[in-house]
Amino acid sequence: MSTANFSNPVVRWIDHRLPIFSFLHHEAHEYPTPKNLSYWWNFGSLAGIMLVIMVVTGITLVMHYTPHVDYAFASVERIMRDVNSGWLIRYIHMNGASFFFIAVYIHIFRGLYYGSYKAPRELLWMLGVVILLLMMATAFMGYVLPWGQMSFWGATVITNLFSAIPLVGDHIVTWLWGGFSVDNPTLNRFFALHYLLPFVIFAVVVLHIVALHRFGSNNPLGIDVKGPQDTIPFHPYYTIKDLFGLAVFLIPFCAFVFFAPNFLGHPDNYIPANPLVTPAHIVPEWYFLPFYAILRAIPDKLMGVLAMFGAIAVLFILPWLDRSPVRSGKFRPVFKIFFWLLFVDCVALTWLGGKPAEGWYVTASRIATAYYFFYFLIALPLLSIFETPKPLPKSISESVLGGSGGPAAAPAAAKEKA
Ligand code: HEM
Repeated sequence: MSTANFSNPVVRWIDHRLPIFSFLHHEAHEYPTPKNLSYWWNFGSLAGIMLVIMVVTGITLVMHYTPHVDYAFASVERIMRDVNSGWLIRYIHMNGASFFFIAVYIHIFRGLYYGSYKAPRELLWMLGVVILLLMMATAFMGYVLPWGQMSFWGATVITNLFSAIPLVGDHIVTWLWGGFSVDNPTLNRFFALHYLLPFVIFAVVVLHIVALHRFGSNNPLGIDVKGPQDTIPFHPYYTIKDLFGLAVFLIPFCAFVFFAPNFLGHPDNYIPANPLVTPAHIVPEWYFLPFYAILRAIPDKLMGVLAMFGAIAVLFILPWLDRSPVRSGKFRPVFKIFFWLLFVDCVALTWLGGKPAEGWYVTASRIATAYYFFYFLIALPLLSIFETPKPLPKSISESVLGGSGGPAAAPAAAKEKA
């Protein structure tokens, strides 16, 4: 990497010894970015900002939180009532988790539609799946900390899933709990890990960005950058676009924080944990519901657990399941149909995960689970072979400037007609 020439002597002095400013300059000013990125490309930076918000509010909450079964619930209530702006910090953290998942789920569906997981970005995608797993573990353990009824029973149900593993299952559960039920040692270790994992996520995000910058962003056309005419510098074009996206994203986020802070949560978590009273319905947070629906769709416990983990595992091998040389769904007419069905399917699974596991809900969950795996394991490999994609534009700039009928082509076409 070449070092940039800075006019400020202090910056120059530091940069000569530690080329951090050159690095930032390179990333922001020289890093060539496809000129046709749409708003769907805002969600990576939004996820990054949510991660920072979660870490900052989390560390502030920890200053007042007590990780002990006798004090945890009361310490959270104290944060809500007595700590200056404690209610705000907690509501930002609580709703921030949901908005973090919203940003990441949109980010994933963007990748699925535009084929961003395909070569040469397979590792970038797989690092993303690792991040998703880490986020899930972090969110699950965080939900246990207030030690309400859902915290306790959610932790009990989910940790018990490991008992389905033959021979060693029960030992694993005892090991996870640090005893013979979810209790103080469980709360303590969940607290320790909930504090640690966001920093691990941070480290994996750094790798994610390094992998991204190796080949640069994919784009809505899914074709490679052919030269400088296809790109613009990241700064100021995408910094300003990311900031605008952030302002828009913060509107619904603030609406939830200030006007409906408990809408996404469960009221039972405002009842202190009681191991002697099981809630009528134990439901996880909304972002786990599709996986919960898959778990309960299968009558056998072990198979259910395997299917639930399998739902993430298929994402790992996705780059090798979809072998179509065309990345973007824009040019894949049949893929498009299956993709949107998958989207509806995931919404349906989310809804079904929140319903009791009885009657036609179970049947619907089974159909939705079957489609989820059908999409990845059967539809994508077959489409790779049998689908005829539409012709691709020659280059990004040609498409942007109207050569292949982009929006900019309309006035030119009208002129031609006249
Ligand atoms: C903490 C969570 C995450 C953060 C902060 C993050 C950050 C980013 C950023 C900043 C970008 C570039 C901007 C963009 O393309 O939107 C990006 C790209 C990408 N991310 Fe993530 N990401 C996260 C999670 C994930 C997950 C869970 C996946 C997939 C399972 C994923 C897959 C990808 C892919 C494939 C790209 C390249 C997209 C393209 O160029 O079309 N990321 N990520």
